[in-house]
Amino acid sequence: KQIVILISGRGSNMQALVKAQLPCRIAAVISNQPDAAGLAFAREHGIETAVLSHRDFASREEYDAALMQLIDGYQPDLVVLAGFMRILTAGFTRHYTGRMLNIHPSLLPAFKGLHTHQQALQAGVKLHGCTVHFVTAELDHGPIVSQAAVPVLAEDDESSLAARVLVEEHRLYPEAVRLFVENRLHMEADGRVRVAG
Ligand code: GRF
Repeated sequence: KQIVILISGRGSNMQALVKAQLPCRIAAVISNQPDAAGLAFAREHGIETAVLSHRDFASREEYDAALMQLIDGYQPDLVVLAGFMRILTAGFTRHYTGRMLNIHPSLLPAFKGLHTHQQALQAGVKLHGCTVHFVTAELDHGPIVSQAAVPVLAEDDESSLAARVLVEEHRLYPEAVRLFVENRLHMEADGRVRVAG
């Protein structure tokens, strides 16, 4: 099996996936940001990289069409969004139904969108965490694959809470991708997630 990983910044989740030495080939790391720090890490690890800047396109549809073409050139079995900070069009998400994952830094359905740790602190929740889900047209809403919870401590601020969640992200995401590339994780037509043995 082979996967393509999409990043926009440091790509720490991509780095965790590389370090996990999963039974699959990472065909490429693609970024919408030319200066994404994760690109250097990928190159240092001999992984092909590509940049497709959204600034070079007039519309979201045109960008997504070009991104789809770039991705499909690698013929991935799975597209992994890892800190990829772009809203994807319905056409793009439909094209990868059942074979595109994302990791979101909250216990969905709580705290969709950005600044999730700030949202959690403001809500006063005692448990927070991260969610791996299949990507569908609705933002941060796709069928949930797995979750990890962490305590919120009285002295937490956004950065201490984010750091505690990130540790779990780096464990949870490689676990989920491993399941998929081992043919043990499927999204059914009705959206239910099935994990085999
Ligand atoms: C992480 O919190 C991740 O959950 C979210 O983007 C943030 C940065 O991820 N998707 P990374 O370090 O670039 O992988």
